[in-house]
Amino acid sequence: MNISNKLRNWVDECAALCKPDKIHWCDGSDEEYQSLANMLIEKGAIKKLNESKRPNSYYAVSDPTDVARVEDRTFICSEKEEDAGPTNNWKDPAEMKELLKGIFDGCMKGRTMYVMPFSMGPLGSDIAHIGVEITDSPYVVMNMRIMTRIGSKVLDVLGDGNFVHCLHSVGAPLADGQEDVNWPCNKEKYIVQFPEERSIWSFGSGYGGNALLGKKCFALRIASAMAKDEGWMAEHMLIVGITSPEGVKKYVAAAFPSACGKTNLAMLTPTIPGWKVETVGDDIAWMKFGDDGRLYAINPEYGFFGVAPGTSYHTNGNAMKSMESNSLFTNVALTDDGDVWWEGMTEEKPAHLKDWHGKDWTPDSQTPSSHPNSRFTCPASQCPVIDKDWENPKGVPISAILFGGRRASIVPLVNEAFDWQYGTFLGSSVSSEMTAAAAGTLGQLRHDPFAMLPFCGYNMGDYFAHWLKMGKKSDSSKLPKIFYVNWFRKDENGKFIWPGYGDNIRVLKWVFERLEGSDNFEDRPYGRIPSKGALDTSGLDISNDEMEKLFVISKEEGLSEVNELREYYKKFGDKLPAELADELNKLEERYNKM
Ligand code: GTP
Ligand code: SPV
Ligand code: MN
Repeated sequence: MNISNKLRNWVDECAALCKPDKIHWCDGSDEEYQSLANMLIEKGAIKKLNESKRPNSYYAVSDPTDVARVEDRTFICSEKEEDAGPTNNWKDPAEMKELLKGIFDGCMKGRTMYVMPFSMGPLGSDIAHIGVEITDSPYVVMNMRIMTRIGSKVLDVLGDGNFVHCLHSVGAPLADGQEDVNWPCNKEKYIVQFPEERSIWSFGSGYGGNALLGKKCFALRIASAMAKDEGWMAEHMLIVGITSPEGVKKYVAAAFPSACGKTNLAMLTPTIPGWKVETVGDDIAWMKFGDDGRLYAINPEYGFFGVAPGTSYHTNGNAMKSMESNSLFTNVALTDDGDVWWEGMTEEKPAHLKDWHGKDWTPDSQTPSSHPNSRFTCPASQCPVIDKDWENPKGVPISAILFGGRRASIVPLVNEAFDWQYGTFLGSSVSSEMTAAAAGTLGQLRHDPFAMLPFCGYNMGDYFAHWLKMGKKSDSSKLPKIFYVNWFRKDENGKFIWPGYGDNIRVLKWVFERLEGSDNFEDRPYGRIPSKGALDTSGLDISNDEMEKLFVISKEEGLSEVNELREYYKKFGDKLPAELADELNKLEERYNKM
């Protein structure tokens, strides 16, 4: 292995601090993966699924207290408090480092320390970046091997270059002879980013974005700070290729908050004939302007870490097919024949399961069989509609950006921004009902600008300004057009009005037509919506009345949203770009004229 002095020194330092029993350098090979799996199976920490049902796949359940991202334990430790901004937890970096050195001291006793070089993005792409994660969780190594490109080949590209330092521990040292538990973790959790140093220290959790440090910690929090400094964008966005019946192809990126439909949109099966959707990524986009003035995006990830409940051959067949083998399942239920199940996977519920607590479950049980944030980890390459350019190191050119959220009322099915500046305003205005992806109050409406609230590695006001600045980098004809969508509007009975899933292609079709310059739109105070009949509802069982309901914002509702946003904007003080305050005033004027 091609190990630089820089890397070796850092690993030595971490080992001296964490005091593991052993150090294992991950080469990323198949054999290594199998031997980690076998070791965990032997300990009883994971199970192998029925080989004839789901080849080379494994099953894990977490500690019931370690099931989602912990936003209140997530810190941005910039040198200046102002640079973390009003939406992040901040602590002085020197103080935090001292504190962390205390809790990491000896934290890997009795365990093996794994050193995992990984690349976010195709190896060698000039949009890609390299990290090294040190972890004491073999389950994390297994996940990271699916989610990122790991191993010796990464070191060959890295040489003695810089890498993002990612140190992770479950925070559960073992005394001599102490028996391990299936899911070691610590009640006290710290998910800490040092943006200037480009480093991450994560302690106490083994789950998802808390522990797979390439994902939210690096590819969003650290990368957003790098992107601001270097003039590119790191966004919580899926990337999808859409081909029209005429064979014209365009790429679209979309930012929705956690558990608000990115994976589903990224690989949807169109319900209208002739349209094709292909997946580049389902969670994160890194974007840079090309020499031609267009914005190019790569998916820095290598796999999907998707929400299991609600995923079925009916709602998202491509996700189901992506996880038919070589996959890892966490906190779902186990069937009697050694396969997995979760709420919504099949219409008929299995007569008997072991739920995610390992308890017997039947359709009469009062609790769900799977945790609402249970997830599958599977290779992106197994997606039947993976785009042919998903690993293109240059990325794919983005023609449109969608923002969205989960809103039971007010926010229309789709509207188009008048221009980049108003689009940036729309991104800043996103609110969404909270989901199980983060520990917290379910269903509560909160501001989640650009779907980046938990993921922006610096001052959100500066992030708004960065978006405005990016819009000035190219001419407006080359910039992606910006749209705002909402699949989640409900009727007076609390039922979703819009069928969603594969039918979202109907909205994408209108977006596509707008990109082609069609004038099938009408102006509303809040943006442009499809003109009458412009949204293809052929074959859909939805009344004109319901369709209209999907677009109505009354003057009162509009003005109350404006007031609410004005209140929210105060949070950012003089970091709020004047352009956004201006857009808000103009929006208010348009509502007042209604
Ligand atoms: P993260 O991985 O947390 O970032 O989530 P995500 O944004 O990828 O969300 P995902 O596609 O996994 O969807 C989350 C939940 O929303 C699942 O339970 C889906 O079934 C549901 N969902 C997705 N798309 C739609 C839709 O168009 N309509 C409705 N009603 N529900 C949807
Ligand atoms: C999200 O919460 O947005 C996720 C899941 O994609 S996690 O990787 O846990 O952050
Ligand atoms: Mn996500």
